[in-house]
Amino acid sequence: MTIDKKICLVTGGAGFIGSHLVDMLMDRGCEVRVLDNLANGKAENICQHEGSERFRFQKGDILNSGDVRPILQDVEVVFHLACLGVRHSIAKPFENHRVNAEGSLNLLLHAREAKVKRFVYCSSSEIYGTAQYVPMPESHPARPETVYGASKLAGEAYARAFHRSYGMETVVIRPFNTFGPRSHYEGDAGEVIPKSIVRVLNGKAILVFGDGSHARDFTFVRDVARGLILAGEHPEAVGQTLNIGTGFEISIRELAEKISALAAPEQPVHVDFQNPRPGDVGRLFADSGKFRALCGWKPEVDFNAGLRETVEYFRNHPLGVAALITGETGRNW
Ligand SMILES: NC(=O)c1ccc[n+]([C@@H]2O[C@H](COP(=O)([O-])OP(=O)(O)OC[C@H]3O[C@@H](n4cnc5c(N)ncnc54)[C@H](O)[C@@H]3O)[C@@H](O)[C@H]2O)c1
Repeated sequence: MTIDKKICLVTGGAGFIGSHLVDMLMDRGCEVRVLDNLANGKAENICQHEGSERFRFQKGDILNSGDVRPILQDVEVVFHLACLGVRHSIAKPFENHRVNAEGSLNLLLHAREAKVKRFVYCSSSEIYGTAQYVPMPESHPARPETVYGASKLAGEAYARAFHRSYGMETVVIRPFNTFGPRSHYEGDAGEVIPKSIVRVLNGKAILVFGDGSHARDFTFVRDVARGLILAGEHPEAVGQTLNIGTGFEISIRELAEKISALAAPEQPVHVDFQNPRPGDVGRLFADSGKFRALCGWKPEVDFNAGLRETVEYFRNHPLGVAALITGETGRNW
């Protein structure tokens, strides 16, 4: 099956990864519907498609059947990305569970009722907890350390159960940390790369929680969006659980130095080491060999090139660099 010209629903489509997925689906000639309550998503991320007959945005909640049922009518492929994030789960665990776990179950139920052809569930490497060995294949034990990781794992389990119990074509994708333009620098959704870029561009020290030895495998956002589309169209993906990562690992300390050198080469590297964050796992490093072998997915954007593009995005942000720092809250849990 090819995704070209299919009717697709992207939940969380006004968010960081979702909006890039929407761009790609529009490029593939799809009819794209977005369901997003704008809790963290931004209308600006998808406004370029307003006016297209193939595009429809509905502000609504995945927990509300009155929002979900009508938008699923005639949909062939669902990409389910709507969720609340890892830092949010530290302060508001029950609300996080409701959206990530119950919201996923609600969407699966209505997708089945609407006879959706394929359902792609976007999970997260946070379901693993910290690496017990590396690189981490899909068979690595799932020991989430946060309610976010646990609730994403529950959503995965529901997606797999719908494949087993009802024969629905579900696919579980586990992206490792993702970065790129439109990533969140603000509030509890803020992530290390955009937060650090915004700080350096404003002449402030990068904040590192802990000693900076913890390490991540960062994938560029368009590579993740391409992987989600492959999951929505490739016959071998059905019923599978698949990692998306680059197999390239970088420590947070090294990352801070790189960002500093790219964003403000004239400034000395200035890192402010603070107490570790709750729920911050030590190491995540993907083995995405299974996705490559089954469906041919591999990363195409080199980490340094992706980082340069991200720095330029924030340097030229429409709000202006100085305005961004007001949203960057430092400690964000
Ligand atoms: N960013 C990463 O590094 C990363 C890594 C691994 C997995 N993921 C997964 O990718 C997906 C997208 O993440 P993102 O980074 O783009 O986050 P994001 O916050 O930008 O996107 C999530 C979207 O869901 C929306 N949303 C929240 N609650 C909702 C609700 N009840 N109903 C409807 N919409 C709701 C938000 O407004 C937001 O636009 C998530 O499923 C996440 O678990 C992200």
